[in-house]
Amino acid sequence: MARGEHGGQTSTSGLLGGLSPQIEEKLSGNRKPCLMFTVACVLSSIFALSALSIITNSCEERISASTFRSASMERMAQNYRMHSFYSSEDHSPSKKRKIDSEEIVIDDVFKKSYNTNLKNIVFGIAASSKLWQSRKYYVREWWQKRTMRGYVWLETPINGTWDEFAPPFKISANTSQFKYSRPKGNRAALRLTRIVTETFKLGLKNVDWFVMGDDDTIIFTDNLVRMLSNYDPKQMHYIGSHSESHVQNTRFSYSMAYGGGGFAISYPLARALATTQDGCLNRYPELFGSDDRVHACITELGVPITKNQGFHQFDIRGNPMGLLAAHPMTPVLSIHHLDIIGSLFPRKSRLVALRLLMRAARVEQASMFQQTITYAQQRRYSFSISSGYVVRVYQGFVAPWELEEAPRTFYSWYGSKNHDHFPFDVREIPDDPCEKPTLFFLSKRFLNNTASGCIETVYLKHRLSESNSNGCDERINSVERIRVRSTPLDHSWFMPRRLCGRVEMWKNDTIDIFVRPCQQGELVVGVH
Ligand SMILES: *[C@@H]1O[C@H](CO)[C@@H](O)[C@H](O)[C@H]1NC(C)=O
Ligand SMILES: *[C@@H]1O[C@H](CO)[C@@H](O)[C@H](O)[C@H]1NC(C)=O
Ligand SMILES: *[C@@H]1O[C@H](CO)[C@@H](O)[C@H](O)[C@H]1NC(C)=O
Ligand SMILES: *[C@@H]1O[C@H](CO)[C@@H](O)[C@H](O)[C@H]1NC(C)=O
Repeated sequence: MARGEHGGQTSTSGLLGGLSPQIEEKLSGNRKPCLMFTVACVLSSIFALSALSIITNSCEERISASTFRSASMERMAQNYRMHSFYSSEDHSPSKKRKIDSEEIVIDDVFKKSYNTNLKNIVFGIAASSKLWQSRKYYVREWWQKRTMRGYVWLETPINGTWDEFAPPFKISANTSQFKYSRPKGNRAALRLTRIVTETFKLGLKNVDWFVMGDDDTIIFTDNLVRMLSNYDPKQMHYIGSHSESHVQNTRFSYSMAYGGGGFAISYPLARALATTQDGCLNRYPELFGSDDRVHACITELGVPITKNQGFHQFDIRGNPMGLLAAHPMTPVLSIHHLDIIGSLFPRKSRLVALRLLMRAARVEQASMFQQTITYAQQRRYSFSISSGYVVRVYQGFVAPWELEEAPRTFYSWYGSKNHDHFPFDVREIPDDPCEKPTLFFLSKRFLNNTASGCIETVYLKHRLSESNSNGCDERINSVERIRVRSTPLDHSWFMPRRLCGRVEMWKNDTIDIFVRPCQQGELVVGVH
C-alpha cells in the first residue's frame, strides 16, 4: 500500500521513539487514545448512522461503511476534528470511492459477500474410536453445540456415554468393497474420504458448505464464516491449503487441500462428488490417504483448489511458536496436529495452552495471530506482535521484512532444520544471546469496557535462560509485561495492509502499545 503518497496525513508512529524515556513516560501519562476513540466513536457513529440511512443496507455497504468509520475515527483522534469525509453532502457510495485509494481497495476486497452463516455450514470431523477419548477435548474447544451442525465420524461406536459437549457421532459405512493397494497405507483412508459424501447424503437442509477437519484440529469458526462469505456457494468451490512440508507437498501435491488443516467444499461440488466418488475411489487404489483421494476425485470434476493460508495442516514438529509469530496476513482458520506439535505456550500442557488461546480468540477472533510491527526509541527496540499470542522484542533494528519471516523454532515433518524443507520464509534465531528476541506470551485478553472499549491483551515475559535476562540490555530485562490495546476490529481491515502500532508508554516493568489502522503514508518503522 505504500505508493509514495505521503500527502495530507502526517505519520505519528514512532514519534515517541525519538524521545528520551523520561519524556516518553510524561507524555504517555497525558495520552488517552482509547478515551479519545470512544468520543470519536460516538460522534462518528451518529454520522455513520445517518450515512447508513441514506445508502442502502446491503452487507457490502455495511462493511465498507464501518471501514470508513474506523478510518475516519483514526483521523479524528489524530486531528481532533472531523474529517470532511463525513460532511453531510458526501454520503453517496460513488463519492466515497473517490476519496482515497486505500478505501477503493477495501471496497474491491469485500465486493462479494454471500451472507454465509454458521447455520449454513455442516462440519465433518474425521475421527477414530480409539483416540476419541483424548482428542475430544480439542473438538470441545471450538464446538458450540447450539449454533453448529456436524458429526464426528467413527469406525465403531465407542464404549460409554457420548460427550454432550461434542458434536454427535455417526458410524461410517463399510468400505470393504473398495480397492486399497498402497503398501504401508491404512484402509481407514477410504472411510475418511467418504465423509463429505456421507454427510451430503444425510440430506440436511440449508447447507451451503461442508467443512472437513480432523479430531486433532481446532477451527476458528467466526473467521471461517467470514472467509466463506467471499465465495458464491452456488458455484463449485474446493478451498484449503497445502502442507508446511515441502517434501509432503512434492510427494502428494501442492494442489490438494490437506485434510487435517481442514477444507471447505461448496454444496454443488459435494453433490457432484456424491455421485462420482465411489467410482472414482476404485480408479486410484494406490493413493495413500483420504485427502489425496478427495483431491483426485475433485480434480476429475475439473475443480482446482482455491488456496487459503488461514488453514494450517501444521506438518511440523517441535515448538510451533515461530509459525504463529509470523502468520500470513489472513484470518486464521485452523490449527492441526495438536497432538504432535509442542504446546502452544511454554510450560503449559497442550490442553491448558489451547484453552488459554481459545479464551483469547473468543474475545476477538479476527485479530488472532495478526502481526503488527513497531519500533521504539529511534529503532533501538523492534517489536513484533502476534495478536493474542506472543510479542517478540529485539534489541536494535530488525527490519520489517525480517520480522515477517517465521523464526525457526520448529523442525520439518521429517525432523530437519534445513530451510529447503519449508515452502515459506524461515529465519534462524541468532546464536548471539543479545540478538535473540525476548518473548512475552499471552496472559489475558479482554474488552476493557470501563474506561475505553479497547481490547486489552496482556503478555508476560517468558523467562528462558537462553533468550531472556541475558544481561545485554538492562532496560528490556526489567520489563515484565507488555500491554497491547487495540480498537475492536471487524473483518473489514483485511485489506492488504497490516495494522500500525505505537509504543505509548514504557515504565520500568511495563510497556504499553497501541494498535490501530495505519494512516495513509504511515511508515511501520516510524518517522523517516
Ligand atoms: C470397548 O471395550 C472393549 C472391552 O473392554 C474393548 O475391547 C474395546 O477395544 C473398546 N472399544 C473402544 C472403541 O474403546
Ligand atoms: C463389511 O462388509 C464385509 C463384506 O461385505 C464384511 O465381511 C465385514 O464384516 C463388514 N464389516 C463390518 C465392520 O461390518
Ligand atoms: C481499563 O482501562 C483503564 C484505562 O486505561 C485502566 O485504568 C484499567 O486498569 C483497565 N482495566 C483493567 C481490568 O485492566
Ligand atoms: C522504576 O524503577 C526505579 C529505579 O529502579 C524505582 O525507584 C521505581 O520505584 C520504579 N517504578 C515503578 C513504578 O516500578
